[in-house]
Amino acid sequence: MATITETVRRPQVRQTQCFIGGKWIPAASGKTFETIHPATEEVICEVAEGDKEDVDAAVDAAREAFDHGEWSKMDARDRGALIHKLADLIEEEKDELAAIETLDNGKPISDSRNADIPLVIDCLRYYAGWADKIEGRTIPIRGNYFCYTRREPIGVVGQIIPWNFPALMTAWKWGPALAAGCTIVMKPAEQTPLSCLRMARLAQKAGIPDGVINVVPGYGPTAGAAIVKHPGVDKIAFTGEGATAKIIQREAAETMKRLTFELGGKSPNVIFADADLDAAIEGAHFALYFNQGQCCCAGSRLFVEERVHDEVVDRLRERNLDRKVGDPFDPETQQGPQVDEAQFDKILKYVEYGKKDGAKIVSGGKRVGDKGYFVEPTLFSGVTDDMRIAKDEIFGPVLSVLKFKNVDEIVKRSNATNFGLAAAVWTRDVAKAHRYAANVRAGTVWINCYDVFDAAAPFGGFKQSGLGRELGEAGLANYTELKTVTVSMT
Ligand code: NAI
Ligand code: MG
Repeated sequence: MATITETVRRPQVRQTQCFIGGKWIPAASGKTFETIHPATEEVICEVAEGDKEDVDAAVDAAREAFDHGEWSKMDARDRGALIHKLADLIEEEKDELAAIETLDNGKPISDSRNADIPLVIDCLRYYAGWADKIEGRTIPIRGNYFCYTRREPIGVVGQIIPWNFPALMTAWKWGPALAAGCTIVMKPAEQTPLSCLRMARLAQKAGIPDGVINVVPGYGPTAGAAIVKHPGVDKIAFTGEGATAKIIQREAAETMKRLTFELGGKSPNVIFADADLDAAIEGAHFALYFNQGQCCCAGSRLFVEERVHDEVVDRLRERNLDRKVGDPFDPETQQGPQVDEAQFDKILKYVEYGKKDGAKIVSGGKRVGDKGYFVEPTLFSGVTDDMRIAKDEIFGPVLSVLKFKNVDEIVKRSNATNFGLAAAVWTRDVAKAHRYAANVRAGTVWINCYDVFDAAAPFGGFKQSGLGRELGEAGLANYTELKTVTVSMT
């Protein structure tokens, strides 16, 4: 086992205050809240607890920077260069940022280092390249007119993110907003404010002008709600629970804010008997257990064709028993703790529901140790579509295996949900794979792979899994307003 040095375990936390108009300031109320390390339940530090007054100040700063500052009007290529500079500074500090992420969220250091932070850098670089490629069109309208469109930044955007990928969600939100020339008021999740605050410091160091990025840590119903209600905010980009999104949608109606939502899922992952089973089993394991099962697109309904069902369940069980659960700072660890007690309790409650509803525990189902929010990789077989573990988003390391017989049945059952974020299919039959991809109602479909993300590929939900898209050109478009200009040529 690798030796874990004290410096890796305890990265230095330097930013714990609100970041408003380029200044680091305590909350107006003077209040703070604790953020904890979920593997030990120890307090890492106190963080400023922002509320309405702080949000008001942050919106004023963002408004000023948007309406009167240089940001949205500077040469687009220069704006792109500043985003590149931010990516460079994150790259310079990538080990420390990864350690902060692991400390605050509990995710394994190997994931923070090899997935989260590299994806952050890649996302920012991708959008840096877009800054000077946001183009309008010329339109041949009737009459003697010259008609063209402009894509303008939407204005001040309020960004509210969850705790499952704190740094990456920050990059997904900042990248397109900055490229478009918007200014930002962000509220990180109360469980995990630290990496976002560090990134704000790096943005300042990169030379992104004061007021362009503002961060107000705090709770949802206070700081979050204040952003949503503020008339000076033009758009809300939110990632989190569907129930929260519905509150936001109602509150935002008053000021007609533009909205994009990235919500939950109960994504079907389908293994046909003709699949490469080695790849499918490893893929199904990864699809659910990655990030402690705390993924909006987790492959949480695993449909397995009858003929290979027993073999797949057996091999998934073996794979689970092999999974290394423990100290997230150990580079060998594959699974860390859940993010907090509320999530931990919710997961164990669903394990009880599974048993009560008649599913069979194949592996796991219990807490690991007596300190920290660790849950065994849990596998249920004999799950039917009506069980709570097959319908609700559990957001933990609990995989449900369901049996199926043929392709028509599987499309219907895949779609029998209000969610529609992602789906995957494992088969060697190309036509069958594409038929499934065309008929499943989900924003992303993976064929013979899972969780393949790229900043260039749009991501988002059908149905109650979301509104609008993030990443790619589509994600950028959601940070712009389209203006039509018509000129008389006479
Ligand atoms: P949540 O939706 O309550 O929190 C996400 C963010 O929204 C946080 O920053 C929170 O402070 C903020 N927020 C909460 N209430 C708000 C309000 N009224 N106005 C404005 N902002 C508000 O999600 P939570 O409670 O952390 O997790 C609950 C469940 O949601 C999880 O068990 C999981 O099923 C799902 N979830 C889904 C995520 C996804 O990536 N789709 C991410 C996190 C949670
Ligand atoms: Mg909540």
